[in-house]
Amino acid sequence: MKGIILAGGAGSRLYPMTQVFTKQLQPIYDKPMIYYPLSLLMLGGIKDVLIISTPTDIPAFEALLGDGSRYGIQISYKIQENPSGIPEAFILGEDFMGAEEDVALILGDNLFYGDFDFFRKAFKNQIDRIDGKEARIFAYSVSDPERYGVVEFCKKTSEIKSIEEKPIKPKSSYAIPGLYFFPRSVINKTKNLKPSKRGETEITDLINSYWNEGVLGVERINRGVAWLDTGTPKSLLDASSFIGAIEERQGLKVACLEEIALRMNYLSYEEFEEIVSKIPNSTYKIYLEKIGAELKR
Ligand code: TTP
Repeated sequence: MKGIILAGGAGSRLYPMTQVFTKQLQPIYDKPMIYYPLSLLMLGGIKDVLIISTPTDIPAFEALLGDGSRYGIQISYKIQENPSGIPEAFILGEDFMGAEEDVALILGDNLFYGDFDFFRKAFKNQIDRIDGKEARIFAYSVSDPERYGVVEFCKKTSEIKSIEEKPIKPKSSYAIPGLYFFPRSVINKTKNLKPSKRGETEITDLINSYWNEGVLGVERINRGVAWLDTGTPKSLLDASSFIGAIEERQGLKVACLEEIALRMNYLSYEEFEEIVSKIPNSTYKIYLEKIGAELKR
């Protein structure tokens, strides 16, 4: 399975911070936002990633992350000329997907923390499933479901009862986070999508199409996992405070890409040491040196 990070968009709710560079390059505590979704893909075992962003921001992402070799993965880039909808990721990503059966799409402003075994298993289950037709979404209970796609479950069978995009009166508290697994068929399905009243193609329409065919899986993420989205100034500050509190308390970093690369064996110890030696003097470097020394023992 390959991974796509959608990291463009208008970012209008964060204006004027997004006037010059995109939301996903803004800091979350001690690192750029894109580190967080990228770390989730890496922890899920994905080593081939496409980053999609605006014409002005792609060069900045390239400067930040390069070709991915410093994390032992491959990163490529694609421009989205206009923010015309989340599903466009699959059209822009068609060549990147190549002969791959599945793709994981994560929105660049979605941040997950906790129980990474859950996500590891979810990625593995998608890759290992037998028929190859199923798409998979997640559901997470929030206090403000009206801001998201909302999934309602049947009380008796736990099956999906309805899926609605940003409903005025949500039928459940379960929002659909910005992490989706789709089979290849998503490319053709996207080509047939019509824009909604907002003038964008909608991911909910794609999800509904898999549901109507009876090939949509949904997994509830339990409350032990934090799912944060960072689209407003307040949620950006909350996410920074949350990550800061955890990192300070544990003395461990969240979404530290070099550390994940070493732990996942994407980098050998020697490669890791070489990469860390080139990082400017900083608390980030000191942290990586400490992790390196611990893992060498
Ligand atoms: P949104 O939060 O829906 O939109 P936005 O980021 O442009 O913000 P705002 O509403 O404040 O204008 O987008 C969700 C994520 O998907 C976010 O990471 C941006 C990204 N995105 C794109 O990269 N391209 C797109 O065409 C769309 C619709 C979103």
